[in-house]
Amino acid sequence: MRIVTSIPDMHRIADAERAAGKRIGFVPTMGFLHAGHMSLLHAARARCSTVVMSIFVNPIQFGPAEDFARYPRDEARDLAMAEEHGCDIVFLPSREDMYPDGFETSVDLNRSTIPLEGESRPGHFRGVATVVAKLFNIVKPHMAVFGQKDAQQAIVIRRMTRDLNMDVEIVVAPIVREPDGLAMSSRNAYLSTEERTEALAISRSLRLAESMCAGGIRDPQRIADTVGDAIRSSGRVSVEYARLVDAETFEDAPAMAGDRPALLVVAARVGSTRLIDNTILSWKDTI
Ligand code: PAF
Repeated sequence: MRIVTSIPDMHRIADAERAAGKRIGFVPTMGFLHAGHMSLLHAARARCSTVVMSIFVNPIQFGPAEDFARYPRDEARDLAMAEEHGCDIVFLPSREDMYPDGFETSVDLNRSTIPLEGESRPGHFRGVATVVAKLFNIVKPHMAVFGQKDAQQAIVIRRMTRDLNMDVEIVVAPIVREPDGLAMSSRNAYLSTEERTEALAISRSLRLAESMCAGGIRDPQRIADTVGDAIRSSGRVSVEYARLVDAETFEDAPAMAGDRPALLVVAARVGSTRLIDNTILSWKDTI
């Protein structure tokens, strides 16, 4: 596995891989890797001959009161895991190279920044879209893999590639969960043992919504309210939002939405840790 830290070196390597007829698959991450990230690597490996993973904790996607400074980092462990799981190249840029003095340009979004995560975390998607656009320009991938856990992020990135005519295929890989249902996330490292147990209320509430949907309930508000109440009643987890939205547009899902799958999205705080999770509810399959 090659470790690349300079942007010009990464450009040269990407050009050489492309010239050799290789298909480059890309997994952008902020490190502190877990099995969810490994599933993204495997998805890239299944589709591509060269797999590149970036590890970069992107300062511009964190708000001033968010966890940039304490975001968990363990480079040695990350590199060992990436190698063990067949990554070919790890790109590890520095903050100074990514955002040198005088950095001015960003990728902005309109409608998709408004609801849910965009509302709760102003500027977050501008930061994500900007760094992903930069990484695409540096790594020059044919395809890139994102996790369904950050469902809105995946939609924002897909929208960006379409709107800006980027020739990168976006693949979204399913959420990977711990055996007890907790969605894997680097931020789970913040949870105490007690908080981790309380956090299970989130995935449990998603299963509840799935069974309501399978039982024929089609009222988005009722499902979302039941989910919110189930999380709140289980302990000290506070719900930031629990909403049923159209899986493509992130607008509120209409009742009896027909063919289009709806996405149940939840953001909640357990102690000082903010967690997000979601599940796709397919009305059609369950009618
Ligand atoms: O999902 C993440 O880890 C980050 O938002 C990403 C896509 C690597 C951009 O910094």
